[in-house]
Amino acid sequence: MSETSESAFVEFERVQKSYDGETLVVKDLNLSLPKGEFLTMLGPSGSGKTTCLMMLAGFETATNGDIRLDGKPINNIPPHKRGIGMVFQNYALFPHMSVAENLSFPLEVRKMGKSDREAKIKRALDMVQMGAFGGRRPSQLSGGQQQRVALARALVFEPELVLMDEPLGALDKQLRETLQFEITRLAHSLGITVVYVTHDQTEALTMSDRVAVFEAGRIQQLAPPAELYEKPMNSFVAQFIGENNTLEGVVTAIEAGECTVKLDSGDIISALPVNVSAVGDRTKVSIRPERVEFNPERMRDGTHTLDAEVLEFVYMGDIFRTRLRVAGIDNFIIKTRNAPDQVRLKPGEQIKIGWLPEDCRALDA
Ligand SMILES: Nc1ncnc2c1ncn2[C@@H]1O[C@H](COP(=O)(O)OP(=O)(O)OP(=O)(O)O)[C@@H](O)[C@H]1O
Ligand SMILES: [Mg+2]
Repeated sequence: MSETSESAFVEFERVQKSYDGETLVVKDLNLSLPKGEFLTMLGPSGSGKTTCLMMLAGFETATNGDIRLDGKPINNIPPHKRGIGMVFQNYALFPHMSVAENLSFPLEVRKMGKSDREAKIKRALDMVQMGAFGGRRPSQLSGGQQQRVALARALVFEPELVLMDEPLGALDKQLRETLQFEITRLAHSLGITVVYVTHDQTEALTMSDRVAVFEAGRIQQLAPPAELYEKPMNSFVAQFIGENNTLEGVVTAIEAGECTVKLDSGDIISALPVNVSAVGDRTKVSIRPERVEFNPERMRDGTHTLDAEVLEFVYMGDIFRTRLRVAGIDNFIIKTRNAPDQVRLKPGEQIKIGWLPEDCRALDA
């Protein structure tokens, strides 16, 4: 499937990568970003995210396939003309230069005058809250401070494309959230295209226009955050993004828009057929904890319900998180909002739970 389109700014077409000539760590990857998009690659360790960034940066070459930047094969664009800003997992600052000189460097390469340079350096350092550190050497900074300077250096020349690999990994929660906001604000206001890598799914969901979920060198799903969370297309994505309940069974009836699943426990439920095609298919049914209902008044007539036993109730402030034994599993989670009229379930209580069939997705087993 080729996604080549005229408006693509960054394009991967059937890209494969092998480091050793035997195993493919990136497999037939197709990806196309329009100018100005903020795309995040999210996935387990070793799934090929950094490799994709390195190929896009031109530090690694694709074994097969094409990578294009603004319609031109990346190999044909000399590095200084690529206009790519980068923050890599281990992309060091120049140790012999001060912080300000590190930021000045990409501007001098672009022949910018002194007063323009100073203004841009100040703005970039202020953004990462490092304005007072311009005179220090990298070795005189903490890891998180170095990371912020690397971030400022990647953005200071307002590149068209920025590649960031875990740029906020070493920062505390508050600074991380401030910079998440600053990076997206800056990217959108300047129209910068960003390819961002993170392990943090909240970061991926809150910052991105689209998220590519990687597994073992393949993109399992590429979608805007809400779609990814609410409409996972397979079990891997459902498990990887957000908290998820999984019930396993066999499809016993299927028609457009609804199927019936006989769980391994013998219980029968209705589900949305997403990644099953025929009666007899094994399936993992996925239900988000906040879509589970236990108040009979709020359940639709005819909803299949399941018996559940409350095992644990955890007060989390804004929400209540309750663990249940359901259909033979004892890690079924439900989440309810902490509202004045909300019931606080107690361990040992027997309840009935249900949901709308469309919130219950029958996926691959
Ligand atoms: N230079 C290299 N030589 C050989 N194999 C490599 C090299 N770099 C990465 N790999 C292998 O390629 C695979 C993908 O690695 P990559 O660094 O792209 O993963 P990642 O998704 O960025 O993981 P992480 O989240 O841990 O950073 C891994 O199996 C890794 O061991
Ligand atoms: Mg990596």
